[in-house]
Amino acid sequence: MNDLNPPVVVAPSEIAAAFDSICLAPDALEALEQSARASDLADLPLLKSGEWARFSAEVHGAFAARDHLIIKGLPVSAHGATLLLTARTIGAAFRTYRGGQIIKQFTMSPWTTELSHTTREGEFHTDLNTESVSPAITAMQCLEPDPGAPRYGVNRVARLTDMLTFLAECADAKTLHFLTQERVTMLNDRSLSSWSGRAVEGDVLRYHPETLRAAARRSGEFVPALAERIAGVARAAMAVSAPFGLERGDVLLLSNHRTLHYRGECSVVFKRYPTEFSSRSVFILHAGRERANS
Ligand SMILES: [Fe+2]
Repeated sequence: MNDLNPPVVVAPSEIAAAFDSICLAPDALEALEQSARASDLADLPLLKSGEWARFSAEVHGAFAARDHLIIKGLPVSAHGATLLLTARTIGAAFRTYRGGQIIKQFTMSPWTTELSHTTREGEFHTDLNTESVSPAITAMQCLEPDPGAPRYGVNRVARLTDMLTFLAECADAKTLHFLTQERVTMLNDRSLSSWSGRAVEGDVLRYHPETLRAAARRSGEFVPALAERIAGVARAAMAVSAPFGLERGDVLLLSNHRTLHYRGECSVVFKRYPTEFSSRSVFILHAGRERANS
């Protein structure tokens, strides 16, 4: 198998300097979100520059080869404006949330069971997998690394093509069949949205163990094979991925259609128990589709 570590692109100093001047103003995120909603940011002078074209082409190249990459050397802005601009390289049609927000921030907490920011180990999944059209790209920027890194807060990305090859090679026909042939239902317990179909349809993968379990619970059917299939997917995803850390400022861009992602258990260091602690904090956004390299 190829090198499992994510490809790394280092942002040139001109790009980092331009990001500094655009992203560090107090209202930078608001202005960028507004312009992303209205014009796709195309009016920004930086996006018309030769530096941007070269940077963007390098990001596209790494993404095309491995369906994910890490970008280093960018500044971190307090509200995540840098992530929005970075994701514009390969992402289009940003998803908006409450109040037209594009960027969300998650800080890990020992006091929640919410999957987005619990300190418990997560499972390999795709994001927003019960929506009628799942987002093509997930983008993440590390604001604060896990205080227990590198042992805690590790990330993994498993490519669909590698998992299918692995399952075929180790003759795990049941898991292969489950992913590519079986009709399954995934249910989001919170939004009550559900989706039915094959986990792999065409070249789009949708998968989240929690939503599969929730659908099985709701239908009242005891599905003894489901736990076994989920374990089979986890085994394959582990085998074709490697753990990696994110340092402050690192941006991870990944295909939410062609990869599964995972976050290991996180740690916290209390400053004053129980409410003040340092922990992993990240900005997240989703792009509806991939942008062609222009
Ligand atoms: Fe996720």
